[in-house]
Amino acid sequence: FSAEVDNNSPKDELQELLQTLEQRSYWNGGKFVKYDGFWIPLEILRPTLSTQKYFKAKDSDIILASFPKSGTTWLKALTFSIANRNIYATIDQNPLLITHPQEVVPCLEFNLYLNKENPDLQHFSNPRIFSTHIPFKSLPDSIRESECKIIYVCRNPLDQFISERQFVLENKIQNDTVLPLKLEESFDMFCQGIQVTGPVWDHTLGYWNVYLKNPEKVLFLKYEDLKHDITFYLKKIAEFLGCPFSLEEENQGVTEQISKLCSFENLKNLDVNKTGYFTGVMKNSSFFRKGEVGDWTNYLTPAMAERFKNIMESKMEGSEKDA
Ligand code: A3P
Repeated sequence: FSAEVDNNSPKDELQELLQTLEQRSYWNGGKFVKYDGFWIPLEILRPTLSTQKYFKAKDSDIILASFPKSGTTWLKALTFSIANRNIYATIDQNPLLITHPQEVVPCLEFNLYLNKENPDLQHFSNPRIFSTHIPFKSLPDSIRESECKIIYVCRNPLDQFISERQFVLENKIQNDTVLPLKLEESFDMFCQGIQVTGPVWDHTLGYWNVYLKNPEKVLFLKYEDLKHDITFYLKKIAEFLGCPFSLEEENQGVTEQISKLCSFENLKNLDVNKTGYFTGVMKNSSFFRKGEVGDWTNYLTPAMAERFKNIMESKMEGSEKDA
C-alpha cells in the first residue's frame, strides 16, 4: 500500500478532513490516520472515501470482508470457484490457474478505488465478487442495505499480527529512512489497536454482531475452522450463497477438486503466484507464506500472548457470544 496520495476528490475537502483526524507513524515508518474510528494508511484514506461515496452494491454482489492477513486470499479463491463452478466446466479451466486470487477478486479500497475516484465496474459479470477491509459500520450504505451477501473471515489475532509483520518486512513496505521497529514495539502498537483497519476487536465485533442478528446477510468464518474442515465450510459457503452442491456434484468430487485447487500448497506452487507483483508493490508470492495455525508461538513470548489475551477479553466483554 504505497501508492501516492491521489487526491482526485476536491483537494481542499480531503485536506480539511485530514486536519481533523488523529495521525500516527506506523512501525514501518508509514503514516496512519484514524478515520471513522479505524486506522488506515494515509494513502488509503482517499480510496476509502471514494468507495463509500461511489460504490453501489447490487443485490447479487458477494462481498468478502476481512481484517488484513486473516485468510482473504484463500476465501477469494474458494468463493470465486464456488460461485463460478458452472461457468468453468472442469477445474483446469479455472482462471485461478493463471491469475492471482487478488486479481480474480479485487479489493475495493486497496485496488479498484486506489487510483480512480469512480472506476467503471460494468465489465464485471454477475455475481460480482469484491473484497474489502472496511469495518462493517463504515461500509458504503448500499452494501449494508442491499440484499448483497457478505462473507467475513477472521483469524487468531496473534497469527494475524505475525502474518502482517512478515508481509510488511517481505515486501519492504516501509520508509527506507527508518529501520523497522523491533517486534516488541510493533506488538505494542498492535495492543493499542493500531493496525490497518484496526482495532481488530472493533472490526471483528462489528461483523460478528451483524451475523448474530442477520445470518442471511453475513456468514462469519474463522481461518482455523477452514483449516480444520475445508469440505464442511465449502458446502457452508455454497449454501449461504444460494448455490448448494448437488448430490451429483458431490459424487463427482467437485468439492474435493475445489478444495484441492484452493489449498495453500497448490496455490503457492502455481507459476502465477510464485513470481511477479501485485499492484506493483507486493510480491505475488508474499500472499502465501506458511499458512499455518499457531505460528505466533515462534515469535511471541507467553507473556506477550497473555497481555493481548487480557486486552481482547476486556474489549470483547459484553458481546453476545464468544467470537
Ligand atoms: P501466514 O502469513 O501466516 O502464512 P490474507 O490473504 O488475508 O492476506 O492472509 C494471508 C495469510 O493467509 C497468510 O498467512 C497466508 O500464508 C495464508 N494463506 C494464503 N492462502 C492460503 C490458503 N490457500 N490456505 C491457507 N492459508 C492461506
